[in-house]
Amino acid sequence: MAVLVTGGAGYIGSHTAVALHEEGREVVLIDNFANSSPKAVAAIRALTTDSMAMVEADLLDSDAVARVFKEHDIDEVIHFAAYKAVGESVAKPLDYYRNNLGTTIGLVEAMVEADVSKLVFSSSCTVYGQPDVIPVTEAAPTGAESPYGWTKYMSEQILSDAAAAVDLDVVLLRYFNPVGAHESGTLGEDPNGIPNNLVPFVMQVAVGRLEKLMVFGGDYDTPDGTAIRDYIHVVDLAEGHVAALDALNGRLSGCTAVNLGTGVGSTVLDVVRAASDAVGSPIPHEIVERRAGDIEKIYADPAYAEQILGWRSKRDLADMMRDHWNWQRQNPQGFA
Ligand code: UFG
Repeated sequence: MAVLVTGGAGYIGSHTAVALHEEGREVVLIDNFANSSPKAVAAIRALTTDSMAMVEADLLDSDAVARVFKEHDIDEVIHFAAYKAVGESVAKPLDYYRNNLGTTIGLVEAMVEADVSKLVFSSSCTVYGQPDVIPVTEAAPTGAESPYGWTKYMSEQILSDAAAAVDLDVVLLRYFNPVGAHESGTLGEDPNGIPNNLVPFVMQVAVGRLEKLMVFGGDYDTPDGTAIRDYIHVVDLAEGHVAALDALNGRLSGCTAVNLGTGVGSTVLDVVRAASDAVGSPIPHEIVERRAGDIEKIYADPAYAEQILGWRSKRDLADMMRDHWNWQRQNPQGFA
């Protein structure tokens, strides 16, 4: 039996494929390479097995998806594939709703048809917006502030309704800010164009592709005035997915939302300092205006993940920066 990993060539999907293999699971990857590279698949196979199955298909193609379930013995699914750029989602909301909701609905229909009942879904702490209480627990109110965020919010609702109606058990994993890379330095994040996210931007400055980091906002109500996030090592995150599948095999049924974070809040300047230490030279940066739509501070209460999945993060910010830098240094142009 195998785990189907949608978006398996992407940043989190690829690291999760490796973690699943290490735990002895068979893996089938599916990706249309809309925002990823076949080279990531080669890197996954080099770290695991050349025989790892890879299907190149669009999840909106229901015939192709049905075929995957017919041709492989799949009994578990992890659904990563989605568009994920907040700003782009504001400019192209219909693309985001069609893709992110259509793929999720089509995938679950194919699962029901194939009698596959265990699903782990990539959600995001974006569903909390700016929480009133931090660390934020899974019981906090949810909503969204961008079409991207709404697709995560709506997907959670769709999956929760489906789990109540058909034979489907779901874990909704609400990720905080994934950074870092596989310790080998052969697998990592490779954003298209100029990175929107902090750590990929910092690392492209470090490697000389970008001149300096703009720190968005120095007047937040935080110890150094810059915004606070919960950065989590992508390999810890990957291991959280394995733990979620294990929990679905026995302990968990229905639809359960779980935070995947460390519980540690870091400011932008904390990240810049940790990156400078890893790189061994200062990261040029300048504090500028706040970025529209940014929240001031959020970090996870990770207690429920430990209780329900038996999982907690093991790697700290220094580990994240060391591994992200190791990847970027070895692959200045990513997979290109
Ligand atoms: N930041 C900078 N300069 C940059 C990029 C980011 O100062 O060039 C700052 C941001 O203002 C923010 C922090 O670094 O304070 C982290 O920003 P990211 O863009 O890396 O991450 P966000 O927390 O803003 O976004 C993440 C995910 C989104 C998700 C969102 C929910 O990337 O997918 O969390 O809050 F929607």
